[in-house]
Amino acid sequence: MVELRPLGVSRVFTDGRDLFTENLMPGVSVYGERLVSWRGTEFRQWDPRRSKLAALLLKGWKILPLGKGSQVLYLGAASGTTVSHVSDLCPEGTVYAVEIARRAFQKLLDIAEARHNVLPILADASAPEAYAGALSGVDFVYQDVAQRDQVEILRKNLRFLGPDGSGILMVKAASIDVAQPPQKVYDAVRRALRRGGLHALGTVPLEPYQRAHAAIVFEFAH
Ligand SMILES: C[S@@+](CC[C@H](N)C(=O)[O-])C[C@H]1O[C@@H](n2cnc3c(N)ncnc32)[C@H](O)[C@@H]1O
Repeated sequence: MVELRPLGVSRVFTDGRDLFTENLMPGVSVYGERLVSWRGTEFRQWDPRRSKLAALLLKGWKILPLGKGSQVLYLGAASGTTVSHVSDLCPEGTVYAVEIARRAFQKLLDIAEARHNVLPILADASAPEAYAGALSGVDFVYQDVAQRDQVEILRKNLRFLGPDGSGILMVKAASIDVAQPPQKVYDAVRRALRRGGLHALGTVPLEPYQRAHAAIVFEFAH
């Protein structure tokens, strides 16, 4: 038996140690995560070693403006581990999940088949014109592509983000520059975001859950 309580961030719950999201597809575990029942509702444990967004929340970050009906553009969906939790958080919204690799995309398709709010897109996020017709505007952009040109990829996708929107860029330091200490890479990324008209609300290193990764939470600079 678990006792859950709201974490105070979006619709995320905690038992005081681990994180949980309400399972949009009761009975179905997406990546082998534990399913638990609390007050007649099923929840899925959210693994911070498999999902950088869970790691960010466990590091104490409190601002995640995802509501029931949020429209989310998710770049670098892979096989849908984190996408599935974002889908739990936005049951009446849409998660546009962009992935370039066919093999990962196959698994993402299985998740999308079961989850009405996940729209999978097989495409290169650095060429967003390919999927511009599939979405109009979004409230939130989440990017986790682990590429050298990740700031440029984000910049190209800002066209979809409304003026009051915000987002999270997951930075893998080694993808940008293995020779630099991660902190220097994060500083350089923040400067590049600022040049692109974005304001970083915070930069959160994700150790011990994810080595040499940081989450940069941003909004448009006003
Ligand atoms: C670190 S994994 C993402 C993990 C995923 N976000 C999660 O938490 O479940 C990075 C993914 O980005 C994808 N990717 C890399 N470059 C991309 C691009 N230009 N467009 C779309 N996806 C890309 C990779 O194929 C890989 O699946």
